[in-house]
Amino acid sequence: MMNIILLGPPGAGKGTQAARLQANRAMIQLSTGDMLREARASGSPIGEKVKAIMDAGELVSDAIVTALIGERLDAAGNRGAIFDGFPRTQAQAEALDLLLAERGRILDHVIELVVDEDELVRRIVGRFTCANCGAPHHDEFKRPTVTAVCDVCGSTEFKRRPDDNEQTVRTRMAEYRAKTAPILPYYEQRGLVRRVDGMASVDEVAAAIDAILDGGA
Ligand code: AP5
Repeated sequence: MMNIILLGPPGAGKGTQAARLQANRAMIQLSTGDMLREARASGSPIGEKVKAIMDAGELVSDAIVTALIGERLDAAGNRGAIFDGFPRTQAQAEALDLLLAERGRILDHVIELVVDEDELVRRIVGRFTCANCGAPHHDEFKRPTVTAVCDVCGSTEFKRRPDDNEQTVRTRMAEYRAKTAPILPYYEQRGLVRRVDGMASVDEVAAAIDAILDGGA
């Protein structure tokens, strides 16, 4: 049962690669961003609490995200876990160690997606998804083949994340530099960090991650 962290700034491709690993391996994607967006959509008390924080591009409290991850880890059974967007602070990194140890799990790799921030702003600001099936599209890189029609399901409804505007993306990047990048040494000391060029194509990034997980890199 392998447990890995995908680490990288907003738009680095964590969600793209985590979804692919979940589809191809007996692993579960644990994305705190997705969990928080579900909480918002359901109108739960947690959702109401985090809405303004997320829309400003700031980090939600460590206690909330750690509790969400703990619940999902309990439901993961024997599947390996892909942590996508968690941990994001030193306190979350330490909380994750505890959650894993309590469940007899070991952290195998921390995969850092190394990227160019200006390029990421273009990636994020241009992205949108099908409102029906969730298929990802992009204004510049992945326009629907037929204008305004989803390539996958044919729907004509699309949506954009409220935090995907340039100003909020810059705040999200700053939060990453200030609070998340500094946790890398914590994992480096333990020899867990592997680096992948996140500016390569989606398939090339996927191949590099596969090589790490299969022990060939
Ligand atoms: P979250 O949802 O985690 O957002 P994020 O980290 O900002 O990451 P993104 O989802 O924007 O990017 P990604 O790296 O997954 O890239 P993706 O694969 O989508 O968090 C949102 C908010 O929730 C935070 O700001 C915070 O408020 C809160 N939050 C979440 N977790 C928290 C925590 N632990 N603690 C506190 N607060 C928390 O790819 C981006 C785009 O690029 C897509 O269009 C994709 O198709 C494209 N793309 C991907 N890979 C490539 C490639 N190799 N080449 C070209 N295009 C690519």
